[in-house]
Amino acid sequence: MVPADRSFYITTPIFYPSDVPHIGHGYTEVAADVLSRWHRQAGDDTWSLTGTDEHGQKMLRTATANDMGPREWADKLVQESWIPLLETLDIANDDFIRTTQPRHEQGVAAFIQKLYDTGFIEAGDYEGFYCVGCEEYKQTSELVTGTGKYDGELVCAIHSIPVELLKERNYFFRMSRFTDRLLALYEERPDFVQPDSARNEVVQFVKQGLDDLSISRSTFDWGVPVPWDTKHVVYVWFDALLNYVTAVGFDGDEATLNRRWPATHLVGKDILRFHAVIWPAMLMAAGLEVPKQVFAHGWLLVGGEKMSKSKLTGIAPNQITDVFGSDAFRYYFLRAIPFGQDGSFSWEDLAARYQAELANGFGNLASRVIAMLTRYRGGVLPAPGEASERDLGIRETVRRAAVEADLAIERMAPHEAVAAIWTIVEELNGYITLEEPWALAKDPEQAGRLDSVLATAAEGLRALAVLLSPVLPKATAKLWTALGAEPALGLLLDQRLRAAGDWGKLPAGTTVQALEPLFPRIDPEVLNA
Ligand code: MSP
Repeated sequence: MVPADRSFYITTPIFYPSDVPHIGHGYTEVAADVLSRWHRQAGDDTWSLTGTDEHGQKMLRTATANDMGPREWADKLVQESWIPLLETLDIANDDFIRTTQPRHEQGVAAFIQKLYDTGFIEAGDYEGFYCVGCEEYKQTSELVTGTGKYDGELVCAIHSIPVELLKERNYFFRMSRFTDRLLALYEERPDFVQPDSARNEVVQFVKQGLDDLSISRSTFDWGVPVPWDTKHVVYVWFDALLNYVTAVGFDGDEATLNRRWPATHLVGKDILRFHAVIWPAMLMAAGLEVPKQVFAHGWLLVGGEKMSKSKLTGIAPNQITDVFGSDAFRYYFLRAIPFGQDGSFSWEDLAARYQAELANGFGNLASRVIAMLTRYRGGVLPAPGEASERDLGIRETVRRAAVEADLAIERMAPHEAVAAIWTIVEELNGYITLEEPWALAKDPEQAGRLDSVLATAAEGLRALAVLLSPVLPKATAKLWTALGAEPALGLLLDQRLRAAGDWGKLPAGTTVQALEPLFPRIDPEVLNA
């Protein structure tokens, strides 16, 4: 058994608010939210953090190009786009950190000073190719020859924009000292970086030996000043990674830090090395625990390439939610893409899954059961008679689905969790077809059997409402109300997920209420527009 007070702290990357969000960003937010809602509802001491990464050249240049100061630009984008994104996708985060907040800037200054005082930071010279899109110095092996507008130039393989040759005298983090300790960490804790493909990539990279890392800049001033030499600002990634600890009490609130840290970091695969190499080395240098896990998810692709605003392939999250709703967005991306792999988004696939799985599969099941309870039993849940083989089969499906879904969440496989829960939807639909309650209702001698069928179906819906609430918070809240479950069982969000598969919770005598379609039909004209 897992102790009830187990700590689960999950983070998303903090996003550059240089531009508006697209569905790739929404994907990370939703995945982190489903995992955190699951753990919270399972009784773990859960904390979920997201936020924005507001310093650095990318922010400064975009703001300047828009005739604004970087702070003003960040304020505008955060207020108008990034905070609203959370509502658009129904994200129940516990905190939102901005790297321009005093709590963060103070923590960054304290952290870097500590590393300087303990000899992990020294001055040095650096020359190399820098990609402002990545905010990172690049090895020549990471560059390709540009095409089109940048024909013949050296461009970043991710952003397809030219890199800039920079030469700077600045401060270096002695990261090279951590090569062996990092390799030992990956060896001792194979779960530290996941999935395996990501772990292998990181191990191969570190095996080549690590260089020291340039962590200050003196050619611009949009950042946290280096405390002992204020002509420099802290390198944006060194600053940004620290959000994961400054948001939970570093430096000053020891109790909160101990309660929350270490975290599970969810990141896109493009920013894996920052999280699985640089970040743990920084933590080791400061004498802090390394993260619990770094999990790299794949990219949403368009035409085989990473969806991105700069390549004009970004789709705004509300283009999807305005038509299908936030539940469908959440469901679709978690169900359709094996977590950790790339996935291609298509409107056709989304529309097809919405219709087949959400509307016809789950929504229809819920409406039918509530409607039959209303029609045949005056809206009052009957007590079941003796369970038949088939009734027992449904109980077993529910029990197994709940166990398997929890195990899948533990191994960061939300797509498998949803698939496991969906076996209940499928089995229950099949059960109703076979039992034909509409035929039983015509025969007074079958009244007891009809009671059992209706009670079994309602109890299955009770379990589905609980198990699906992290993924489909809006639809399951409606279903919970329609089932009349709250008076007897309490709020949906207070139902313990790890007990969701226990049978026989919804008591006989419960009164159900009408249920509007959970996933209404979408007008084909809207889809073709
Ligand atoms: N600011 C840094 C992260 C700092 S964390 C200490 C950053 N920001 S970002 O806004 O460019 O990207 C944030 C996240 O969005 C990354 O995990 C990135 O992988 C993810 N995605 C951006 N485009 C994406 C897709 N097309 N598909 C899936 N995720 C994508 O990097």
